[in-house]
Amino acid sequence: MNAIDPGAGRRMFRPLALRYRQIRARTEALAAPLSPEDQAVQSMPDASPAKWHRAHTTWFFETFLLLPHRPGYRRFREEFGYLFNSYYESAGPRHARPKRGMLTRPSTAEIGDYRAHVDAAMAELLRDPPQPVLPLIELGLQHEEQHQELLLTDILHALAQNPLYPPYDPGWRDPAAAAGPASYLEGPEGLVEIGWAGEGFAFDNEAPRHQVFLTPYRITDRLVSNAEWLDFMAAGGYRTPGLWMSDGWAACQAEDWEAPLHWQPGEGGWRQFTLAGLRPVDPAAPVRHISWYEAEAFARWAGRRLPTEAEWEAASGLPGFRDAGGAGLAMDRQRLSSLSRLPPLGGCGRRVQRQIHGGADGAARRLAGHPARPCATELPQLLPAGRALAIRRAAAGGGRGMSQALLRGAATAQRSALLADALAGLSAARKTLPCKWLYDAEGARLFEAITRLPEYYPTRTETRILRDQAPAIAEAVGPGAAVVEFGPGDGAKAALLLPGLAAPAAYVPVDIAPEWLEGAASRVAAALPDLPVLPVVADFTLPFALPPGLGRAPRLGFFPGSTIGNFEPEEAVAFLRRARTTLGRGARLLLGADLVKDPAVLEAAYDDAAGVTAAFNLNLLHRLNREVGADFDVSAFHHRAIWNAALERVEMHLVSLWAQQVRLAGRVIRFEVGETIHTESSHKYRPERLASLAEAAGWRAVAAWTDPERLFSVWLLEAG
Ligand code: AVI
Repeated sequence: MNAIDPGAGRRMFRPLALRYRQIRARTEALAAPLSPEDQAVQSMPDASPAKWHRAHTTWFFETFLLLPHRPGYRRFREEFGYLFNSYYESAGPRHARPKRGMLTRPSTAEIGDYRAHVDAAMAELLRDPPQPVLPLIELGLQHEEQHQELLLTDILHALAQNPLYPPYDPGWRDPAAAAGPASYLEGPEGLVEIGWAGEGFAFDNEAPRHQVFLTPYRITDRLVSNAEWLDFMAAGGYRTPGLWMSDGWAACQAEDWEAPLHWQPGEGGWRQFTLAGLRPVDPAAPVRHISWYEAEAFARWAGRRLPTEAEWEAASGLPGFRDAGGAGLAMDRQRLSSLSRLPPLGGCGRRVQRQIHGGADGAARRLAGHPARPCATELPQLLPAGRALAIRRAAAGGGRGMSQALLRGAATAQRSALLADALAGLSAARKTLPCKWLYDAEGARLFEAITRLPEYYPTRTETRILRDQAPAIAEAVGPGAAVVEFGPGDGAKAALLLPGLAAPAAYVPVDIAPEWLEGAASRVAAALPDLPVLPVVADFTLPFALPPGLGRAPRLGFFPGSTIGNFEPEEAVAFLRRARTTLGRGARLLLGADLVKDPAVLEAAYDDAAGVTAAFNLNLLHRLNREVGADFDVSAFHHRAIWNAALERVEMHLVSLWAQQVRLAGRVIRFEVGETIHTESSHKYRPERLASLAEAAGWRAVAAWTDPERLFSVWLLEAG
C-alpha cells in the first residue's frame, strides 16, 4: 500500500531551511573577528568592504525572493536596493563599485539588523516555499558562499595594507594541500567531455557539458609549490624580461613585483601575510597570490606551459591527480586586464568557475572572474576542478620527457615565425632567409651527415682539439664547473668534454627544441650517469634564466662548433654579452671558432662533392613548401657556396636558374635569372679579431687551443 505522507513535502525542504541558516550564520561567523572599522574599509577598487558583502548577499534574498514571492514583504530600507546591488542590470541602478568603501553609513550594526530582518522573512518563506523558488534559494546560498570567500580575500588584502600586519584570526589554518615531489600524469589523446553534468546545482556558465578533443599532454600531479616558486625567484624570474609577456613585464616593472603578492622579505627569508598573520613562507604549500602573467613567466622558465581549461578538467579525473579542488595556482584568463593578484588564499578552488563559457548571471560572471576561493565554505560538492588555470610542473628530475602538447604548441608557433621571416626575407631587395630555418628534422639529419664529410673539417678538427687538449682544458677550467651548453646538438661534444673535467657539478643543455635536449641529455647521462642534467627549453639567443639547483658552482658556458660564426659580428657580440649576463659573475666560456684559411678549403667544405651541403641548403625550399604552403620548384634552384674575402665569411646561396615566380601566403615573389637567396654566412676568424670581438662583449681571452694545421680554435674566455 502506498500511503501518502502529508509531511513529505515539508520534510523535503527542511534541509534547505537548515542550510540557509547554517550558511547565513557562517557569513556572520567569518565577519565576527572584524571590528566595524575593519568592515568598512575597501583597499582597492576590485575589493569590497566586509559589511558590503554581508549586505549584498542579504539584498539578493530580499530582491529575488522576498519581494517577488512573499506577499506583503517590505524592504528593510528602500535605498538599500541601490546601495547593495552589484551588477544586476535588471534590478536597477547601483552604487559605483570603487566607492563601496565610502559607505560609513549604514553602520555595521545596521547591516546586522538588515540581515536579521531578511532572515526572519526568509524563515517564513522557507516554511513552505513554492516549488519555482527552490532553485533561486539555492542560487542565493551558492552566491553567499562565494561572497564568504571574497570577504576573506578582500579582508586579507585590506589588512595587508596595515604596516602592523594584524592577523584576521591568529588561529586560522589554510586547508592542507598535497606535499612531496610532483610527478607527471599522462593525459591521453582523444575526445573528452567537460562541463557540469551532475545532479544538483551548477552555475549556468558551468554548462553545457560538451566534447573537446585533446592532444596528448602531461601534467604534474600536484600544484606548484612555494619551494618551486622560490627557485624561480632565485633564478631571476622577476628580473628576466624574456620570460614575460610584454604587458606582464610592464606590470611587473610598474608595480615592482619581485615575489607573489603578500610576500615580504625578512631576515630569516621570505614571509607571507596570511589570515593568521605574517608567517614564514611554507615551501611545501601551493603558491598563491600570483597573477596570470607571473604564472605564464614561471611556466616559460620551467620549460612548461599553462594547461588549458579542458586539460585541467580532464586531468582531474586521472588516477593520482592530487589537489583536485586546488586553486593554489589557479587563475583566470579573463582577469588579464585587471592584473589582479588576488588569487586564492587557501588552495581550495572548488568554487572557481569555468571561465570560458561566460554566464547569464552577472554575479556568477563576476565571480568567475574572481578566482579567490579561500575554502571558507563547506560545500558538499567538490566540482571536478576544471574551472581554472593552474600551473603544474614536474620536479627537477632532469626535466626530460617534454610534453607532447608543448611540442605541438611550439610547432604551430614556429610555423608562423617561419612564414613571417620568409615573407620579410624574400621581399627584401637582396633576398635572404635566416639560417636557423635550415634545421628542421631533415635539415638536422643532413647537417649530421655534413659533419662526417671528408671536406667538412670543422667538427672533426674541433673534436680532436677537445680530445687532445682535454688535460689542458680541464686544468684551465678547474674543478666543480656547471657546464651550460648553448645549442647542444646531439650532445656529442659535451659527452667528450665533461668526462675530462674535474668533478663537473651539472650539465645544462639549452635549446629551443626539446627533442634536441632529450638526445643531448641522454648522451651525457650515458657518459656520466651521476652528473645532474638540467635541460632548459629556451631560445639561447634571447635572455633566459638558468635552472635552479646550480648552487654556487662556477658556470662554464660551452659554445662549440663555430656556431658563433653563423652570427653577424654585431649579433655575435650581442650573444656573447647576453651569455655573460646569463652565466653571471665570474663565468667562463669555452668557445669554438673556425679560422680564416685557404678559400679553396673553405669553399669545398661548404660545397662537397657528394652534394650533401647542397641538399641541406635546398631543403629550406622543401621546408617552405611543406610548412607554409610555398610553391617553390626546388629543381629551379641550385646551391652555391662562395668565400666573401672582404667580410671573411663563407656564404651559402640558393641561385635561381631562370626567371620565375613563387607563391607564398598569397604573395608572388619574383626571381631574376641568377638572383640568389642568401641562406647562411659562416664567418671565419683570425685570432686577434676573435679576441677583440670577445672583448667588445666584456670577455677576456685567457687561453686558446688549436690543431697542428691551425684550421680551428677553441677559446677559454673569462668574464672581464
Ligand atoms: C652549424 N654551423 C656552424 C655550420 C657552419 O659550418 O657554419 C653550418 C653549416 N652550413 C653548411 N655546412 C655546415
